[in-house]
Amino acid sequence: MGKGKLAKFAEMETFENVFQYPFSVIDNVPFDMKGHWHEQYFGNDHPIVLELGCGKGEYTVELARLYPEMNFIGVDIKGARMWTGAKKALEEGQRNVAFLRTSIEIIDRFFDTDEVQELWLTFSDPQMKNAHKRLTSTFFMNRYRRFLVDGGIVHVKTDSNFLFTYTRLMTDLNRLPVLFCTEDLYHTEGLDAETRKILSIQTYYERMWIERGLNIKYQKFRLPHAGELQEPDVEIPVDDYRSYHRPKRSGRDTAK
Ligand SMILES: C[S@@+](CC[C@H](N)C(=O)[O-])C[C@H]1O[C@@H](n2cnc3c(N)ncnc32)[C@H](O)[C@@H]1O
Repeated sequence: MGKGKLAKFAEMETFENVFQYPFSVIDNVPFDMKGHWHEQYFGNDHPIVLELGCGKGEYTVELARLYPEMNFIGVDIKGARMWTGAKKALEEGQRNVAFLRTSIEIIDRFFDTDEVQELWLTFSDPQMKNAHKRLTSTFFMNRYRRFLVDGGIVHVKTDSNFLFTYTRLMTDLNRLPVLFCTEDLYHTEGLDAETRKILSIQTYYERMWIERGLNIKYQKFRLPHAGELQEPDVEIPVDDYRSYHRPKRSGRDTAK
């Protein structure tokens, strides 16, 4: 039988690989590890990669297994989901994994300048009504710039046409170097073996959307520090599905 939420929360308090700092906590308790993740947690100087909105942390755990010479941190506000990945990493003795429970809106309070090498955004909510909440909006890009190395890589894997289109518009408008982009990852020819291995890690949401017959889309781009970012001001057709159990979320056909 699965563990209840309260039991997971209680157990997570004892996990040495989990740091819990929701808004209510960080305002009162300073986060002393900002700028010191390497020496104070990982005990090495290997590159740090974040998975933002990690849910159960599949990417964090699997990438850490594939790349023991790199460090991975899954970030999400939902503790009960994060418990799955954190527990697995502990059971498998993965020293290069951590989880941070907080709001991504305040992510720059946890990492210092140039402390992070790459970001993964896996099946982020498309936030069709509110561009400011979209994890690929310029609002968030400006936050990420505060701790991502200059030209650091951002990976975006999504089922959402809306989020995919919006992100392309954002990278195009701001001339961010796009390294790879496909609208149908699992039917793209010519991917090298290494890329195929990384991209074939499937998250909980990814499996649900694949079951529904949706194409998985993937973009990989660089985020340089220079230049003021412009927010796209274009109407985009909204996804005609969203919740797994409800066929349609919105009566509107487009959003910005
Ligand atoms: C659709 S789920 C995807 C989860 C996982 N990446 C997957 O593919 O299974 C989006 C996740 O992002 C988290 N999330 C969304 N916005 C967030 C925010 N602003 N701060 C922290 N977590 C956020 C949610 O809690 C949720 O777990």
